[in-house]
Amino acid sequence: MIIAIDGPAASGKGTLARRLAAHYGLRHLDTGLTFRAVAAALLARGLPLGDEDVAVATARNLDLSRLDRDVLSAHEIGEAASRIAVLPALREELVHLQRAFAEEDPGAVLDGRDIGTVVCPGAQVKLYATASPEVRARRRTQELQSKGKDAEFADVLSDLVRRDARDAGRAVAPLRQADDAHLLDTSEMDIEAAFKAAVDIVDSVRAG
Ligand code: DC
Repeated sequence: MIIAIDGPAASGKGTLARRLAAHYGLRHLDTGLTFRAVAAALLARGLPLGDEDVAVATARNLDLSRLDRDVLSAHEIGEAASRIAVLPALREELVHLQRAFAEEDPGAVLDGRDIGTVVCPGAQVKLYATASPEVRARRRTQELQSKGKDAEFADVLSDLVRRDARDAGRAVAPLRQADDAHLLDTSEMDIEAAFKAAVDIVDSVRAG
């Protein structure tokens, strides 16, 4: 079984994906981390973010088993990831890795921006997780503050809105709800309610 979860930044898709994977005994890949890992490697070596050949070469060395969420969650790495995500050849390289991961037994949950539309268009279950920009910004601000980081709601909100616009506006594989994806708007839900709603969707799709 492959479950595809897409959605904008801070929509809760990552938490949902992790919990669904544990619930159904599937492996999990946060595809945002693959873009973040390439971006982090380029930043660390002072390489330009717009050079497609360099980005592709960096992606070829990526080891999916060594993606460190704590290191890669830094704000500037997310920004850089969103900027390199417009490069078509880089996306192609990463899509190969992501598909190979998805197709291994016993299946997987992948979350990102283009899983249901491009990476795994044949996924059995597709979810599109979203919430209002204000709700997402509030959650992200609280998350950052709980880790002891400086975070102002207004700054977080404007960053989110800018990143969504870039991710949804790019020419290749933009953020978009697949035609056959189930919409899960979590604006009024806590994570438990969102998880239950997602399990209900997956179970009803599997029941046919
Ligand atoms: O989900 P995230 O914040 O970790 O993703 C970081 C950036 O990576 C995001 O702004 C756009 C890009 N991305 C993408 O283009 N396609 C994906 N499937 C996942 C992430």
